[in-house]
Order: sequence, then structure tokens, then C-alpha cells
Amino acid sequence: MTTYVMGRTPEEYERLRRQAAIWEPATARVLSRAGLEPGARCLDVGCGPGETMRLMAERVGPTGRVVGLDVDVPLGALAAERSGGEFVAADVTADDDAVPAGGFDLVYGRLILLHTPDPVAVLRRMWRWTAPGGVLVVQDYDMRTVDSYPPIDVVDEWRRVFLGTYAAAGRDVRLGSRLPTLFAEAGIGAPDGTDVAGILGTMADSAGMLAATYRSIAPLAVAHGLIDEAQRDAYPAEVAAAAGQHPSACAMWPLLIGAFKRKQR
Ligand SMILES: C[S@@+](CC[C@H](N)C(=O)[O-])C[C@H]1O[C@@H](n2cnc3c(N)ncnc32)[C@H](O)[C@@H]1O
Repeated sequence: MTTYVMGRTPEEYERLRRQAAIWEPATARVLSRAGLEPGARCLDVGCGPGETMRLMAERVGPTGRVVGLDVDVPLGALAAERSGGEFVAADVTADDDAVPAGGFDLVYGRLILLHTPDPVAVLRRMWRWTAPGGVLVVQDYDMRTVDSYPPIDVVDEWRRVFLGTYAAAGRDVRLGSRLPTLFAEAGIGAPDGTDVAGILGTMADSAGMLAATYRSIAPLAVAHGLIDEAQRDAYPAEVAAAAGQHPSACAMWPLLIGAFKRKQR
């Protein structure tokens, strides 16, 4: 199932839901700025557990339509059930005709380009699926910002393992910051707007996400020789201990960067 770096377990699906709740205000803001209105036909590419589909469904109301597209069939089925939307099983890196060209007033993708080997090709495909007068909205991470103050070993270790594993898998951890350039390379043109969302939390409220994301990426990190099994198994307890020792230390999360562009009629 493609070369996805994160896990495909019930725990990871639950983590994606928690993560979606954290970023919901940033996504709601971008959807408002992009002009999502009642009655719109929406496509969520790499929909995951469908939390953004639910948000879209609330916005577009009964006259609108919400479709999620994902390569993970069980996860997509769950997304459709939870959001009341439809689900299309497809690989966005390959399936040009998974949905009709020009079929959607909103084509959206969060944390999907980061997971594809050729994000420009995926953007071209998403733009093709956008109707004349419709809007393309993308949100993706720049992970280089992950840090703590004062410096804490488990945060430095998280950054080493994530940046190293993504690089080994041929993925770009800065992708969010490159969105305007990628839009230009895809022939979409300069975005109409961009949005940068960040979270400065504490070690106490960030420890759970540090441990869960590390657990999710660990199989690939082991495969690429960035950690061994002993390090993998020790990390959750090390994070818990660090959070206990430095509960109010500052923890900076990845930036979630958005860009949007309306297509001419
Ligand atoms: C990090 S999750 C983000 C989920 C959701 N967009 C969110 O922000 O909550 C990435 C999602 O993209 C999906 N995905 C990864 N590669 C894909 C591909 N080539 N085609 C379609 N979906 C893909 C994964 O199955 C997963 O559900």
C-alpha cells in the first residue's frame, strides 16, 4: 500500500483523530478564507479518519456533497461512516480518473503531499479535479520547527528520528514551506493566500503526541537503521519521565502551512 512512512494500526488511526482535533481551528480558518460555502461539492484527498470531511459536511450542509479519497480502505470506510460523506478508494499518486475532472468546488488535502514522492504531480492532479470557479486548498507540515526550551533529549531524539526517516524515505520535512513554489511548478500559479499555524505547548501536553508519532514511525526508522529495537521500546518511558521532570518546558510543534488558489471560470 504505497510507501507511507506512518503506521496503519488502530492506535495510529486514533492518533490521527486526536491530531485532527488539534489542527481543526487552523483548518476551519483556511476553509473560511478560501470561501467554502453551503452547497459546495468537496473532495478530501488523503482523508484519513474523516475529521475534515465532518467539518466540510457541517459547512456545506444538506445541499452540498463531501467525498473522501484515500488508499487505506478500512480507514476510508470509517471516515465515510463518521462524517456521513462518501468514500473513494484510490492512490492519489497514480489514479488520474479516480474522480471526475472538474468535479469539485473544493479540492482539499492535509498532510498528504508530504507522503508522496512527486508532490507536483499530485498537485496537478488535484487541480485537474477542481471545477472552474472552484478552489484548491492544501495544508502540510514543516517539521523543522520541532524543538523544546530548555533543550530536552527526547525532543532532540524525536527530531533526529523523524527528519532522518523522512529523508531516508525520500520525503521532504520542509514541504509546507515550499507550497507556493510547488503551486508554481504545477502550473497552478501563485496561491491567492497562505496560512501558517503553530502550536507552542508544554512538555506535559505534548508528551502523548511525541510518543505516539514515534511509535508510528518506529518500524521504518528501525528498517533504515536510525534506531534499534531497544531504543524503540525505551522511548515511551523516556518521554514520560522527561514530561514528569520538565512538565512546563516549552514544546514547539511542526508548523502547519496552508495555501489556496481559486481556479478561473
Ligand atoms: C497523515 S494522514 C492525514 C489524514 C488527514 N488528511 C488528516 O489530516 O487528518 C495521511 C493520509 O493519507 C493517506 N495516503 C497516503 N498515501 C496516499 C496515496 N498515495 N493515495 C491516497 N491516500 C494516501 C493515508 O492513508 C492517510 O490516511
